Parts: sequence; structure tokens; C-alpha cells
Amino acid sequence: MIWVFDAYGTLFDVDGAARQAAEDDPTLTAIWPALSFDWRRKQLEYSWMRCVTGEHADFWQVTSDALDWAAERHGVSDTARLLDLYRRLPAYSEAAEVLERLRQRGQTAIFSNGSPQMLEDAVSSAGLAPHLDALLSVESAGRFKPATEAYRVVTDHFGVAPGEITFVSSNGWDIYGAAAFGFDTAWVNRAGLPVDRLPHRPARILPDLTGLL
Ligand code: LAC
Repeated sequence: MIWVFDAYGTLFDVDGAARQAAEDDPTLTAIWPALSFDWRRKQLEYSWMRCVTGEHADFWQVTSDALDWAAERHGVSDTARLLDLYRRLPAYSEAAEVLERLRQRGQTAIFSNGSPQMLEDAVSSAGLAPHLDALLSVESAGRFKPATEAYRVVTDHFGVAPGEITFVSSNGWDIYGAAAFGFDTAWVNRAGLPVDRLPHRPARILPDLTGLL
């Protein structure tokens, strides 16, 4: 079995950077949830726009552009610490154990929009490196998810047909793209959201990563 995980929002808590910055910056106490929401929303929007138009930039650039927008909207002038914290986001508490137990039955990997350096930093700071066989980035395709070329990075790496990959993501749009490509899918629906109105329903819906076991 090969389990391939989306990174941001799936293994790593994308609210971790703003939440942690607010711990020692009182100006962020009231606004960090909205700041974090807009940061993530713009990051995804920019990745989709760049995917559609073909004007690719790596995910670090997109992440920092999105933070610029969110910071201006919420009147935050210092973004350096927020960006620095994004490089070492916390992993969800069950992630290491779930990855390790799956690894006893097959292979595990990350496949993310994140640039190779972002993924290495996140995985090493969260201590997940020993539980993963591969860190795969869309950068080798030069297109963000949900482009077909992006998902092909995974099947090229493992040398298998799409149906042999179980792709795990907390992002409904990513599950859609992965299912359209032919992956088996598991949607981690931590927030209890409705299923997206798109073709290809998730094959499985789990409340958190432990559902994979
Ligand atoms: C990822 C983002 C999009 O690819 O969640 O990791």
C-alpha cells in the first residue's frame, strides 16, 4: 500500500503560525484567526490562479504574497515572524503515530504544493522525517494542484498506476483533483464541512488521521 499525504492542513496545522505569533504579540490576540483565515484563503486562490494562467511561482512566493495581502487587510506591519513560523508549523498530534503505523504496512509520502525546502523544514521541525519515505513537491512539474501534471509527480515517483495510491487530504478541492486523476482518496474532514459539489466524491471521509488505521 502507498499512502500519500497533502501537507498543509492535513499533516500540518496552517493556523499554527498566526496562533503562535499571537502568544507573544498582543496586537494579534483579537485578529489572528481572521488573519490566518485570509492568509490561507489567498494562498490557495493565488495557487489556483497561477495554475490556470500558467504563471507559476513557487509556493513560498505565493505564501508570502498571500501574507502581504492578509497583513495589509488586518493592519499588521511585521510579517517576518509569521513567515518564519510558517516554516515550522506544528503537526497534528496524531500524525507521527499514524504515519509510523501505516509505514509498517507499506510506504508513506507527502505530496504538496510546498516547495522542496518548505517541506523539508516542516517535516524536520515537526519530527516527521523518520516516518516518511518521500517528500514530493509539485515544483518538479512546475504547476500547482489540481493540475494533472502535478499529481503525475506521485505516479512517476512510485512507478504505479493512479489507482494504487491512496491520497489523503483535508482539502476538498485537492481530493477532487486527486480523484479526477484516478487516486483512491480519503478526505480528512476535521471541521465537519459539507462535501464539495464537484464531480468525484471522496472515497472515504474521516474525522482525523486515525481513521486511516
Ligand atoms: C498542500 C496545500 C495546498 O499542497 O495544502 O500541501
